[in-house]
Amino acid sequence: MTTPRSLWNETSPLIEVDSALPSKVDVAIIGAGLAGLSTAAMLARAGRSVAVLEAREVGAVATGNTTAKLSMLQGAVFSGIRSHAGDEALEAYVAANRAGQDWLRTELAAAPGAIEQRDAFTYATTPEGAKSVDQEAEALAAVGLDVDVLEEGQDAGLPYPVTRAIRMRGQWQIHPMRALAALAASVRDHAGSVVTGCRVVSTDETDDGVLVHTSRGTVLADRVVVTSGFPVIDRAGFFARLKPSRSLAAAYRVPGDVPQDMYLSVDPEERSLRTAEGLLVVGGPAWTTGRERDTDELVRRLDEWTVANFPGAVRETWWAAQDYQTVTQLPFYGAMGDRMYAATGFNKWGMTNSAAAAVTIAGDILGEPVPWSLSPHLKLRDGAEFVSAQAGVAASLVNGVVRAVTGSGDLAEGEGRVVRDGIHPVAEARIDGVVCRVSAVCTHMKGIVEWNRAEQSWDCPLHASRFAPDGAVLEGPAVAALERR
Ligand SMILES: Cc1cc2nc3c(=O)[nH]c(=O)nc-3n(C[C@H](O)[C@H](O)[C@H](O)COP(=O)(O)OP(=O)(O)OC[C@H]3O[C@@H](n4cnc5c(N)ncnc54)[C@H](O)[C@@H]3O)c2cc1C
Ligand code: FES
Repeated sequence: MTTPRSLWNETSPLIEVDSALPSKVDVAIIGAGLAGLSTAAMLARAGRSVAVLEAREVGAVATGNTTAKLSMLQGAVFSGIRSHAGDEALEAYVAANRAGQDWLRTELAAAPGAIEQRDAFTYATTPEGAKSVDQEAEALAAVGLDVDVLEEGQDAGLPYPVTRAIRMRGQWQIHPMRALAALAASVRDHAGSVVTGCRVVSTDETDDGVLVHTSRGTVLADRVVVTSGFPVIDRAGFFARLKPSRSLAAAYRVPGDVPQDMYLSVDPEERSLRTAEGLLVVGGPAWTTGRERDTDELVRRLDEWTVANFPGAVRETWWAAQDYQTVTQLPFYGAMGDRMYAATGFNKWGMTNSAAAAVTIAGDILGEPVPWSLSPHLKLRDGAEFVSAQAGVAASLVNGVVRAVTGSGDLAEGEGRVVRDGIHPVAEARIDGVVCRVSAVCTHMKGIVEWNRAEQSWDCPLHASRFAPDGAVLEGPAVAALERR
């Protein structure tokens, strides 16, 4: 199995960043993904001093590993929001997403190779999926969005039959790393800083502002915006509210013609299609982070499906990423107290939602509040589903402890397992012939990590922190590495 690397990273321009950490800024932004850099670009242009503090590299996590459809047709999301939170919430979501889409497409219009217009399709190949497509069409109609409905037998442009499809014309697909490069350049052109290799570990609120403590020193900020994916600073109980979902994508060279529009199926196993750089990008199976060990099997399944439907397809590269869903399926972007903001819960629709979050948060900081608000709807109906989400977390904790006493025997190359060292669960993995041993106890809230074979990482089933075999933090709410054993 090759090492995962996204098509976007393979074709990314060089992104220039700053080496010095400013000591004081108006706004510190945690995370240089699409949400962080969009917010920073808006604020810097409005004359605020900003510093984007990034633990790894620009686009290192979700944004550099997405499928990057900038679309108002979003699978079955609108019907999901409608059933969980109602029509008023859906209207607010549409207003925010439309503003986000408009802002980003205008922003990227002059960035070379960053954005292309395409039609978007949501489709099904099963009778159950057809019902979901119908519900989505109803939800879209309820908020005045136009789609064409294609019945079974009508040509949706795919090489296999569909039971139902809807098409929204004139949507967009982007190259996310070229988009981030353009936004980072804009931040720096307006005297802002983008500092990478700078992990935020904690914050202290004082009378003078917020002290943001990082691996490279402390910054004093009047306001802080947390755009770290899963919020690393939690003032709003996010740990208990967000459900992680990780999924695969791969880019294939396919002989002959391939569909040029953007597609997403709503069958039990979702498939996403788009083109980029002359290749077909296929999005594949999803799983809950830290609860699937045989991820290499999922990559094989994606290959099998692609070759069966696009004969002669040859995989050039593959990658995986995760995003977070709230129980109402609405994202959160807004204030967490007087000086802190967060943006999260984009539910795999973070291209429009990142920009919508930026418009919302920057608007609040600049004293130009937006006309929509998602927060009241987000809080409305969490109760019962919150309990069931937590039951899953508790079950993982118990299973993790049980697993911790079961590993034994030889460890094959590329394999990892959790064993006991006295009373301590230890995560050991063999990579390139060398066995790395680290504590199996997640530094966030003590979950027991699980091996992810395809990506060769230790993943926590509780809140989806991920760690390299040597224990370094890759993503999620953890800010400290797994201890070396
Ligand atoms: C497989 C997949 C496909 C998707 N496809 C689409 C799509 O087609 N269309 C769409 O709209 N959305 C899609 N999404 C969703 C979208 O990619 C994400 O919602 C979006 O990229 C999130 O952007 P972000 O800026 O919030 O997070 P990220 O891009 O993850 O950025 C967060 C940054 O914060 C940094 N960070 C974390 N902790 C710290 C810390 N302690 N200190 C400093 N920095 C820190 C991270 O290193 C990271 O760079 C998809 C998601 C997945 C998983
Ligand atoms: S991510 Fe929260 S315990 Fe591991």
